[in-house]
Amino acid sequence: MEIKAIRGFNDILPDEIGKWQFVEKTAREVFEGFGFSEIRIPILEKTELFSRGIGEATDIVEKEMYTFIDRGGHSLTLRPEATASMARAYLEHQLYTFDPVAKLYCIGPMFRYERPQKGRYRQFYQIDAEVFGVENPMVDAEVIVMLIDFLKKVGIEKLELQINSLGCRICRPGYREELKKFLSNKSFQLCEDCQRRLQTNPLRIFDCKVESCQEAIANSPKVIDFICSECQKHFDQVKEYLEAGGLTYLLNPRMVRGLDYYTRTAFEVVSYQLGSQNAVTGGGRYDNLFQEIGGLEIPGIGFAIGMERLVLLLPKDREFVQTLHLFIAALGEGALKEAYRLLNELHLRGIRAEIDYEGKSLKSQMRRADKLKVPYVLILGEKEISRGKAVLRNMETKSQEEIAMGDLLNNLVDKI
Ligand code: HAM
Repeated sequence: MEIKAIRGFNDILPDEIGKWQFVEKTAREVFEGFGFSEIRIPILEKTELFSRGIGEATDIVEKEMYTFIDRGGHSLTLRPEATASMARAYLEHQLYTFDPVAKLYCIGPMFRYERPQKGRYRQFYQIDAEVFGVENPMVDAEVIVMLIDFLKKVGIEKLELQINSLGCRICRPGYREELKKFLSNKSFQLCEDCQRRLQTNPLRIFDCKVESCQEAIANSPKVIDFICSECQKHFDQVKEYLEAGGLTYLLNPRMVRGLDYYTRTAFEVVSYQLGSQNAVTGGGRYDNLFQEIGGLEIPGIGFAIGMERLVLLLPKDREFVQTLHLFIAALGEGALKEAYRLLNELHLRGIRAEIDYEGKSLKSQMRRADKLKVPYVLILGEKEISRGKAVLRNMETKSQEEIAMGDLLNNLVDKI
């Protein structure tokens, strides 16, 4: 039986890859312009990094991780996100001794055992940017300005920036208790998972998709009404700096994010063109993450963009596929050898050229050139070669001209 890919794991085929390369190139240009450097981290980490970093009682850790015991008996996990790994690398290599502030980005696949649907996969790609070592709200606004600039540069419009503040370890426990109290009276409305969440992690009930849970939580107290004066001041400044950066935003008091490490600023960028999986980006501040994973007290803020969702939103009228420059149609064995010699020289000069290796008829070679959408075809026949000539056909205008073999290469390079 033919072997197929695993459910939720996708191939990105050559006719799609242009979009992905464009998105990655733009991210590198924009992020590096904002002073960020790339970091590459492993795909596998010790399971503990995520259970402690993301939080034991989150959906990701409870039921979405690809965890296994390796041959040495260690519990390892395919990374479900990059923030915890980047924080681990920053601590492990003591990057703070070089400069306390690190601006890092990373691009790559993440793995979560979720139910696949449009915009939600089990292997998906993220572009992730993080700033470690700054508590100042100025940097919260700076990363959001960078994110929006990037999204504009890839051509995505009609996006909504939503923000919220989730408080800190001083004020959040009070809110948690309030929420618990409020929901205790409605626990009969909650699904089985949320009844458990009510005890372990009531904030996670906000993320539940079950209608009766959403109804139960509809009029719940809002975290923003419980944050301490320090968090309020921080949030006010974030808003002020966002406005100074020319951004508009929507306050979404129900957005709590699905990972436990967040403190203070939380944000998402959503697109109403995406259907139910509408978050293109999620991010926020996490001032306790470093401590959770056994490190120093270092503040951090960042975001991750879901690349599959971003690619779905790219402008439809834009051409992303890299087409060939030239097709060489060789007729006869001698001509094919000459075409092969020429092909190598063209490739060495950076001209994207192709030949037909099978020596098919001119008609069939022209059909292939047409399908490949090449702008020019060089026709090499034995007769032409003996006269020191070749024919160059412009596929758009259908005009043909004879060019001398002697300066064929320069002539082609000039034209193309
Ligand atoms: P997240 O909200 O879990 O945050 O994921 C960020 C983005 O990744 C989402 O907005 C979505 O676009 C994409 N995404 C998540 N899960 C899937 C999936 N199963 N299939 C396709 N796309 C998906 C984080 O991962 C945090 N680490 C973000 C962050 C960075 N916070 C601070 N720094």
